[in-house]
Amino acid sequence: VLEVRSATAVDDSTLRAIDLATWSTQVSPAPVPAEGQPFFGERLSPDDVLVAVRDGEVVGYVTLRPGPLPSNAHVVQVNGLAVHPSHQRQGVARRLLDEAATRVRRRGARKLTLRVLGHNAAARRLYASCGYVVEGVLVDEFVLDGVPVDDVFMARFLD
Ligand SMILES: CC(C)(COP(=O)(O)OP(=O)(O)OC[C@H]1O[C@@H](n2cnc3c(N)ncnc32)[C@H](O)[C@@H]1OP(=O)(O)O)[C@@H](O)C(=O)NCCC(=O)NCCS
Repeated sequence: VLEVRSATAVDDSTLRAIDLATWSTQVSPAPVPAEGQPFFGERLSPDDVLVAVRDGEVVGYVTLRPGPLPSNAHVVQVNGLAVHPSHQRQGVARRLLDEAATRVRRRGARKLTLRVLGHNAAARRLYASCGYVVEGVLVDEFVLDGVPVDDVFMARFLD
């Protein structure tokens, strides 16, 4: 059984481990997560995170951030998504994104947005199959392993 629930502080070390297991320059422009650094902190609280639980084990997460201004509070950004490598290609990410859409829509959101590296083919295919479309591209926004990489903005309207 695959369930999705809100994260709690107890999930910290498991989410950290998933983050480390999935980090690469293929999927993230940020440096490798520092050893011993907690997952939750000033910029990310458990309330912003949904976790996927399979047979009692947390196997993936999605982080959601509402727009900071009243004028864009109807837009929620998916700013983190990862599934543990041993649980990938089993529909976990799709389920997390579906559940995220259901929950934010219930709270009045109209649009989900995200940013994905141009060369992250797996994630781009996932997002496209979940109804996200490209809204714009920042060309050569990052240099990763010496190679220029685009930052692709995608969105899905919830109406
Ligand atoms: C991207 C990621 C979250 C997908 O998680 P997942 O649980 O394996 O995805 P799902 O099983 O729900 O896949 C749904 C669809 O996405 C696409 N997809 C997912 N992984 C893929 C891959 N490795 N190659 C090609 N397509 C892929 C497929 O269309 C898939 O449907 P299918 O399995 O019926 O063909 C996972 O690979 C991951 O954690 N990657 C590292 C972190 C990352 O890239 N995060 C996104 C940053 S923007």
